[in-house]
Amino acid sequence: MKKTIFFLTFFLLSLIVHAGEGMWLPILLQQLNEKEMRAMGMRITADDIYSINHSSLKDAIVLFGGGCTGEIVSGQGLLLTNHHCGYGNIQRHSSLEHDYLTDGFWAQSFAEELPNPGLSVTFLVRMQDVTTSALNNVTPRMNESQRDSVIAANSKIIVNEAVKGTHYKASVRPFFAGNQYYLLVTETFNDIRLVGAPPSNIGKFGGDTDNWMWPRHTGDFSVFRIYADKNNNPADYSKDNVPYTPKKYLNVSLKGVSEGDFTFVYGFPGTTQEYLPAAAVDMVANHKNPIAIGLRQQRLDVINQAMEQDRLVRIQYSAKAAGIANFWKKMIGESRGIKRLDAVDKKLAFENDFSQWVAADPYREAAYGKLLAEYNHIYTDFIPKNNAYNYLTEGPLSIELIRYAYSFNKLVQQSSQQNVTDSAVNALAKQLHAGVDGYFKNYDINVDRKIFAALMNTYCEKADAEYMPAIYKELKASYNGDYEKWADDVFDRSIFASAEKVKAFLEKYSRKDAKKILKDPAFQLAAATYAYVQLNLSKELGRFYDVTDSLQRIYMKAQMEFLPKKQFYPDANSTLRVAYGKVKGYEPADAVEYNWFSTLDGIIQKENPEIYDYVVDPRLKELYRTKDYGPYGDRDSSMHVTFIATNHTTGGNSGSPVLDADGNLIGINFDRCWEGTMSDLMYDPDQCRNITLDIRYCLFVIDKVAGAKRLVEEMNLIN
Ligand code: ARG
Ligand code: GLU
Repeated sequence: MKKTIFFLTFFLLSLIVHAGEGMWLPILLQQLNEKEMRAMGMRITADDIYSINHSSLKDAIVLFGGGCTGEIVSGQGLLLTNHHCGYGNIQRHSSLEHDYLTDGFWAQSFAEELPNPGLSVTFLVRMQDVTTSALNNVTPRMNESQRDSVIAANSKIIVNEAVKGTHYKASVRPFFAGNQYYLLVTETFNDIRLVGAPPSNIGKFGGDTDNWMWPRHTGDFSVFRIYADKNNNPADYSKDNVPYTPKKYLNVSLKGVSEGDFTFVYGFPGTTQEYLPAAAVDMVANHKNPIAIGLRQQRLDVINQAMEQDRLVRIQYSAKAAGIANFWKKMIGESRGIKRLDAVDKKLAFENDFSQWVAADPYREAAYGKLLAEYNHIYTDFIPKNNAYNYLTEGPLSIELIRYAYSFNKLVQQSSQQNVTDSAVNALAKQLHAGVDGYFKNYDINVDRKIFAALMNTYCEKADAEYMPAIYKELKASYNGDYEKWADDVFDRSIFASAEKVKAFLEKYSRKDAKKILKDPAFQLAAATYAYVQLNLSKELGRFYDVTDSLQRIYMKAQMEFLPKKQFYPDANSTLRVAYGKVKGYEPADAVEYNWFSTLDGIIQKENPEIYDYVVDPRLKELYRTKDYGPYGDRDSSMHVTFIATNHTTGGNSGSPVLDADGNLIGINFDRCWEGTMSDLMYDPDQCRNITLDIRYCLFVIDKVAGAKRLVEEMNLIN
């Protein structure tokens, strides 16, 4: 009896689309979401957001540099994204002499805008459901790799047809774990220039201490511009290129935001896994995350201490540290969130209901009866192997020396191959030589040496010996647990820890010198580790993913049949999505209530000249003192910095425009609140909030702090 009641409540609950949950396909908004969006306050139509017949908001959104989102805000291709998305490029233009990372950068004219080789942005031209043609000739009896190759062949035909006679690219991608396929036609621009970036004490204010946290005061934005050739088409960098004229750019709202306002986020979320079984969620939260968290903590301890003491190390390691710390903290929040939400038990309860539904019908029993048992079986078998793999990748294989040494593997291979000519070998050596300065510019041997000792210690002492490459067991024994000594020996003897040694070696390189690489202690560790992974783990992991891919496809289909009235959204896969919700505070803990916005007052409160992350920019302080906020201040007469809302976002949504009911830009998405970071696995409407930089603070910094008024003047401001 109790079970039935639970079954029914769960069933009913899961039919309600939680306000906020979901990353929806722009082409299906009209069908699935428009009604709800308008009921929540939206005044534009689904067709304004995505249309193939006329320009729409989608034409102002780009995938920025592969992992972030950006939006166009002027008729001259001016683009906004996050500071942390432009970070790598800002850093590459920085040195001790002109440290743009620390001091900020503002181009005073088009001519001063800085090119960024390797950086590109991609527009979605159109998307289309091609499930039927993608699955043509796929039969249920095929194994995963047969299925993949048939789909790949079908996709090739679809893609060729789609791009014929254009400079577009296209791909066919699986959605709903391979139950649906969509064609995505895209256009990529390669001449993207840096226009402006605030100083780090604004763009990264609060640093990794505040990262993922609310209340937040980070001015996390940077400004770029798309350049095109004279015909407005994509082109590689050339000084003759001109600012791109977009099909659409966003209007920027100065109106400000209120609690309860409708908002939506339009961008490229990377990965979510909302439809996994309990066993998978348990593995992520209780095995995978804890291993990575511990090892990253050790790396961060070393790097942070060195960055405190040395300005050069700060420049060299700030981007690396930000990357390590970001996922470290995300994983901590995610594992806690899963626990607090009882996500594993909720999934188990769902599986219980699901199993009853399956058992009630012989056809369902035949199709899905063994599904969950198979899942549990394969996860039990897989966990120790996956742990071993994670220990290696987050441990030894994240030591810079080991990775760098292994980048010489190709040289070793080619040097010993009869059919490779001397000149090919020499060309490769030359190519490696050309990369030496770039690599060592951001390398500090003492940081890496300490990391080596710390990670080896943990790896050798804690990881499961059953899956440990023999070389670690031997070296551990021969150093008798003295990991510092081990590190010293490797770093003193290896040629790969010193730019001079590597250069000297490569300058005189001839193929018989491969022997020296093979004897190098760092290379030996690297080669033995990668060989072990290849031989002992990769196949296992590959087999696991094959099985779970096909199980997940069936389980996804079954879940959709089990809940036929529920509106499902596909997991994020770096394709363009719309999330929508409302501006709203939350209660992160017993007796604590969070407001929905932060202000400049909070920056002044957090100020601490002793701590790098909390140094306040002097110009900002002066403007705060005189309350010179221009048109950017709020009607409450404070300067709003960020706000939170219930939009369902994930990594990749960084830099995404946050839009109001009229489709005007009100902010730039840059983070999520810590308590809600489990939303990649399970969304909780009470705790999940995205964090948005208030666009008025962004404009205030550009105009008043940086004095780059020419950029604000380019935009279309709405009052
Ligand atoms: N947590 C945000 C995101 O996932 C911002 C990361 C960059 N900032 C930092 N302090 N590491 O990407
Ligand atoms: N900061 C993240 C990014 O780089 C967005 C935050 C999130 O994961 O939601 O995409």
